[in-house]
Amino acid sequence: MQYGGKIVIGLVIFVGLLLLPTVYDLGAGSAGYKQPKLQMPAPPNDKNCVEDTEWMRKNHMQLLNDWRDWVVRDGKTVYVNSHGEEFEISLQNTCMKCHNDKEQFCDKCHETAEVTPYCWDCHLAPKGAK
Ligand code: HEC
Ligand code: HEC
Ligand code: HEC
Repeated sequence: MQYGGKIVIGLVIFVGLLLLPTVYDLGAGSAGYKQPKLQMPAPPNDKNCVEDTEWMRKNHMQLLNDWRDWVVRDGKTVYVNSHGEEFEISLQNTCMKCHNDKEQFCDKCHETAEVTPYCWDCHLAPKGAK
């Protein structure tokens, strides 16, 4: 029985390794998909999004919805974020000016999440800064 302890330790490590990917997946976010590698904005647009990254990841759909309503219904053109900074309310001139590679940013996530926003039927999509 002199190997018993080692076997138990070995089993514990083995089971731990088996569980590791699951633990990682749980941390990956509520959408239930693994976040792909994204093309992030180049300087000088690489500092901050209009809101915090975490918040944007979860809420950008709703924010875009609000933005559209504010412009189209209320004629509002300036968004003041939670830090008091001002942004023009515009999908093309604001979001896509920083995120100027739609394919490597927006599309990357949406393909993984299997959503196809129809916005680009009308709004112009930037092709990237290549
Ligand atoms: C001033 C440049 C800028 C503007 C304008 C901007 N973003 Fe961002 N955005 C960034 C940066 C930089 C990050 C990543 C920040 C980081 O690394 O934490 C980011 C992060 C994000 C993320 C999260 C990505 C992730 O890692 O999960 C989403 C989604 C997003 N932006 C969507 C938008 C949308 C939609 C708009 C317009 C409503 C917008 N952004 C406007 C610069 C910008
Ligand atoms: C970090 C990953 C990620 C990035 C980056 C991202 N999205 Fe999304 N987006 C999602 C997910 C996930 C959904 C679906 C959410 C849901 O169904 O609740 C979504 C949904 C949307 C929707 C709503 C579509 C619908 O049919 O409900 C719009 C509009 C949208 N995204 C626009 C954008 C734009 C514009 C960009 C790039 C500036 C972008 N997203 C970048 C993950 C991302
Ligand atoms: C049928 C065409 C069409 C589709 C599809 C469409 N839009 Fe628009 N959108 C418009 C028009 C037209 C305006 C008004 C432009 C203005 O008044 O400056 C607008 C305005 C907006 C605005 C505010 C002004 C601006 O320039 O960005 C936002 C934000 C916006 N749309 C987001 C979206 C999002 C997000 C989607 C996809 C979920 C979407 N739109 C789909 C036609 C469309």
